[in-house]
Amino acid sequence: MTKSLTITRPDDWHLHLRDGAMLKAVLPETARHFGRAIIMPNLVPPVVTGAQAAAYKDRIMAALPAGMSFDPLMVLYLTEDTDPADVAAAHASGLVTSVKLYPAGATTNSASGVQDFDKVRPVLEKMAEIGMPLCLHGEVTDHEIDIFDREAVFIDRILDPIRKATPGLRVVMEHITTKDGVDYVKANDADLGATITTHHLIINRNHILVGGIKPHYYCLPVAKREEHRLALREAATSGDARFFLGTDSAPHVDPAKESGCGCAGCFTATNTMALLAHVFEEDDALDKLEGFASKNGPAFYRLPENKGTLTLTKQDAPVTFPDKIHSDDGPVTVFDPGYPVHWTVT
Ligand code: DOR
Ligand code: ZN
Repeated sequence: MTKSLTITRPDDWHLHLRDGAMLKAVLPETARHFGRAIIMPNLVPPVVTGAQAAAYKDRIMAALPAGMSFDPLMVLYLTEDTDPADVAAAHASGLVTSVKLYPAGATTNSASGVQDFDKVRPVLEKMAEIGMPLCLHGEVTDHEIDIFDREAVFIDRILDPIRKATPGLRVVMEHITTKDGVDYVKANDADLGATITTHHLIINRNHILVGGIKPHYYCLPVAKREEHRLALREAATSGDARFFLGTDSAPHVDPAKESGCGCAGCFTATNTMALLAHVFEEDDALDKLEGFASKNGPAFYRLPENKGTLTLTKQDAPVTFPDKIHSDDGPVTVFDPGYPVHWTVT
């Protein structure tokens, strides 16, 4: 039986596009389905100033294949030296949409992130004043904190104090992975939103570790226990406008993942929309997919919804997605949900 669903063209509110050959290889995978994306600034070196964001945006637009449309929403990487005036100017000109806070050392290329949160207070205060959203990687980096507890501890020790000290600051907790994250968002007001990735709706920590280590399921924040995955599913499919899609699609070449010290990141740009249709149908919530992928994000970011549409069709035979995307830097493995998927973007 064929079934189809047409939704407003979606956006991806958390995406890694990288640069150079990798950018060229992965950009069409996102631009094929998504109108806009929040572009993560964790390049080497990071995108710290308005001038660097403008140059990166030019490189993204130059890598976009002819005939495709896509609007990259640029983000500045917050450091302890970030100048509030540069941030405000880049926001006022329309160049930059948000600022990203990485606790130093939390994840890939986060060495220039924040160690002393007091040092970034002037930037956060300026952002609260101008209504500019702060995107944050919500994990503490303290060695004594277990990796599976780092999100919950971040909420108590860092996020809640920052929000209390900075009234009006609009915060996106990115890629939440725990019931604690879901509950914190639900207990607060509309100034707090959260993105949820496609892969965290599908895998729990067993998928990474049972029956042999699966490097292509390893990402940060790492997938948690099943009860947390179920809390994320409930939040994503609930229709609550504070939860929206941010895929965190994060390409690494296979040798960097399949290694004695493998990089964190799942590459989901290619099949995200098909997988989400599967997930939302499974939870009897196909009518909530458009909110999650296409409406809640623009509402939080105070941007118009996209004009176009995207049609998803369910077919009898399982759909085959490419196993890998080829870049001139090497192959990138596409996320495999581990079960047959019948939805495709048509
Ligand atoms: O899994 C992840 N990969 N999490 C991050 O926070 C960074 C990202 C990357 O850049 O590869
Ligand atoms: Zn990310």
